[in-house]
This record gives sequence, C-alpha cells and structure tokens, in this order.
Amino acid sequence: MKLLFAGAEAMPFAATGGLGDVLGSLPSALAKSHDLDVRVIIPLYSAIKEEYRKEMHEEAIISVPLAWRKQYCGIYSLKKNGVTYYFIDNEYYFKRESLYGFFDDGERYAYFSMAVMEAMSALDFYPDILHAHDWQTALTVVYLNRIYKKRPEYQGIKSVFTIHNIEYQGKYDFSILGDVFALSENEYSLMEYDGCINLMKGAIEEADRVTTVSPRYAEEIRTPEYAHGLHTCLNNNAHKLSGILNGIDYKYYDPKSDPSIAETFSSVNTDGKAVCKSALQRELGLDERADVPLLSIISRLASHKGLDIIEGCIYDIVASHDIQLVILGKGEERYEQFFTYLQERFPQKVRALITYDRDLSKRIYSATDIFLMPSKSEPCGLSQMIASRYGAIPVVRETGGLYDSIKPFWIKDNKINGNGFTFAGYNAGELKERTEAALTLYKNEELRRRLVYKIMRTDFSWKSSANSYIKLYELTAGLLG
Ligand code: GLC
Repeated sequence: MKLLFAGAEAMPFAATGGLGDVLGSLPSALAKSHDLDVRVIIPLYSAIKEEYRKEMHEEAIISVPLAWRKQYCGIYSLKKNGVTYYFIDNEYYFKRESLYGFFDDGERYAYFSMAVMEAMSALDFYPDILHAHDWQTALTVVYLNRIYKKRPEYQGIKSVFTIHNIEYQGKYDFSILGDVFALSENEYSLMEYDGCINLMKGAIEEADRVTTVSPRYAEEIRTPEYAHGLHTCLNNNAHKLSGILNGIDYKYYDPKSDPSIAETFSSVNTDGKAVCKSALQRELGLDERADVPLLSIISRLASHKGLDIIEGCIYDIVASHDIQLVILGKGEERYEQFFTYLQERFPQKVRALITYDRDLSKRIYSATDIFLMPSKSEPCGLSQMIASRYGAIPVVRETGGLYDSIKPFWIKDNKINGNGFTFAGYNAGELKERTEAALTLYKNEELRRRLVYKIMRTDFSWKSSANSYIKLYELTAGLLG
C-alpha cells in the first residue's frame, strides 16, 4: 500500500504544535511496523534548517496553476526513518518569519494543496490513500474529487481527512472561491457553511473517511459544545467518522536515553529523576529540595487549555502548600501577565518561563512530580503522555484524548487502578480538589513510587494506533470487505 500524508508541519523539520509531532512520528511507525511505502509532503518553510536542506534532492521544478495564477514550485525530497519527505518550495509563500498567521494563509495553503496534487504527477507517485491533516490541506481532498479524478491516474486514490483541532476550520469570504481557491460555482454548496466558505467542511463532505485524534473527541465534535459550529455537518457524515488516539515518538521522548535531560532514568530505577529535579531547581534558582513537590504546566497559554480555571485556583494552591510551580509556554497576554505576577508574588516558589523551547520542556517534564493539564477541550493532547513517560503524575480534565489516555487513580485490595488524577466539571474547584489529592498522595512515598511506576509503564507508543490506521486504510482502499 502506498500512502501520502499531506500537512502543514512535521517534526523535526518545522513544527509549532501537536500536528508536527504526529506527522513526524506516525509515518515512520507505519513504515516500520508494516513495511509500507509512506511519504509525507509539507511546505519548504524558511524555518527549515540548513542541516536538512543539505540532504535534500531536487525532484522536479514545475508550475502550479491556481485560478489565474501560475506559480513556481520546486519539489525536494529527503529520506528519514524509512519515510520519504517531500518539500514544496515557493519563497513567495513560504519564506516568512513564522509558519502561519498571515493575511494570505488561505492562498498559501490553497497553493500548497494544489501543489500536492500536481506533485503526484510530477513524481509519478499516485498513492492508494491521500491522508490530509487539518484545514491547511483540506483542499487536497476537494481538488482530488472535483478536479483531478477526471484524470485516469488519479481515479484510484482514496482520501482520509484528519481533524487535529476543530477550532481552526479555514473560514473565508465567498469572493475568493474562484479567485483564490480555484473552484467554480458548482462547488459553492459543497464549500458553503454558515454564511462563509469553510475549507474543513468541504473536506469532511468529500473525504472517504474522516478521523480525529481520539475516540472521545470523535463523539464530542458531534455536539454543539465542542464542534465550533460543525456538528450538523459531522452528524450528517457520522458513518465515516472515527477517532484514533495519537501516540508519541518513543525514541525522541525516552528518559532512558534522552540527551537533553540531566540524568537518564527508567521505571525500574528512577534515581535519575531526582537528579533531573535538583538540576532544574538549580537552573531556575529555586531551592534545591528533593522533598518539595514540583508541579508544572507546559502549554500554549490559551483559555481552551484550561488556563482560566488554573487562574481561578492556582494562587490559593501556591499560597497554602509547600510546593514549587514551573510554567512554560506563551500565548494570550492576559495569562503571560498572570503567571509573571505569580512569580513576582511567590519568588521562592514559582517560575514563569514565557517562551517555547523543546529541550527546556524535556528538562521540566523530567523534573516534574505533578503535571497539570485541565483543558476545556483537548482533541488528543500529547503533553499528558510525555509527562507520564517522564514519571510525572498527570492531573487532567476528562475531555477528548485526556479522557481516553488518563484514567482515575484509586486503590482496591492494595492494587493500583488508573494512571492519574481526573475530574469532569470545568471549574476551578474540581481542579483544586484533584491537585490537592495528588499532593496528598505525593506525601505517601511508597504509594507514590508504585503509581509513578505504573504511569511510566503505560503504553503511549504508536504501536496499537498504527494498527488502527492500517485497518482504516485497508477499509478505505477497499482491501477489506
Ligand atoms: C492539536 C490538538 C492536540 C493534539 C494534536 C495532535 O494540536 O490540539 O490535542 O494532540 O493536534 O493531533
């Protein structure tokens, strides 16, 4: 089976969040475990480092039509971990200081989507499955069905569209349907939703299968509370919707061999974790104490990550307990200011690191005792899995992938059940109560040791999810009955 992943980011080349993690690890998991021909295509952003550019081969130089435009398109490739990565080069669109957030993002990704379709013929590679991710590549699915299927080489291609976050749908004014998206009046009703052009809606309608990144989120997005307006469309397409939980890259996130942490450790010998903790305390100028529980929050500082309920209880928690708290992330100014204030108010206890830094995040995970992630909505969430792998006890809200990956801790007949602390209601009271329950457990050394062992051994690798994707692809390609 031949697979082509199309997306806006992939680790280690260019990434801003979880999508990059997934496109950087799922393809190689599939290629390895199932011996498939897996290829991934992303834009050649200026952020992609020279060390990778040096390894790239020029595959083709073509011109990509987009309505009245004819745009330059270089196609480069490199092989990594059994996967062929393609990069679409066009400096006008992708030589920018960041990946997204520009007035012409609609045009940039329409161009990229058309380039993906043209690249198939330039490379003479027609996949069995085109697997597109998020709104930026939603148009590939539409272009495939509405334009390219007229050509015989494209007729066998089936499509899977994955929603990583339904909040970002790609909504535009009608006026650009033809001029920028190169679609005709015939596609008007397909692309129209709630008074505008909605790229994600078009892909949900046209894809052979629609998936999202956890089973629970697949249910949640059929309700108005979570769907950001798309619930009707998803309910109409429920027969082809399913959820597959993400995994994490077990090589990159491995406390047994991670070069970016102070000392390596494992579930059977966590001595190194204590070294990591004192190293971080030293690095951040906190008291070097083994006995004080170290809590952390590593997150985009956006309200849907649960920042408003954190704001509602964290002051009290810090004020009334002997703890240390480290926050890493940036985002809405309001939260950046709040955490900076918290650090000023409690200089012995709190560090607010208003930045985004992968190596620093691993140093924090490895030092953390209790990890807070009370998201309002969470399609999958990878941080709770990374935290678990590095022996931090997660406190999460029961939503989306957090619900599917973290089960409540309780003890029966001296047997530990669950792998974290969880709560259902979206309010500061429940978050505070569960965080304090985790702090109480922390004091019981023997129980804590057993729970951490169990947490670190919970399987968050891609193994079982890669199998689920294979089944889905086989079903979609018509290889299964
Ligand atoms: C998005 C979601 C996150 C998910 C990630 C990878 O960033 O917000 O929950 O883990 O995509 O699928």
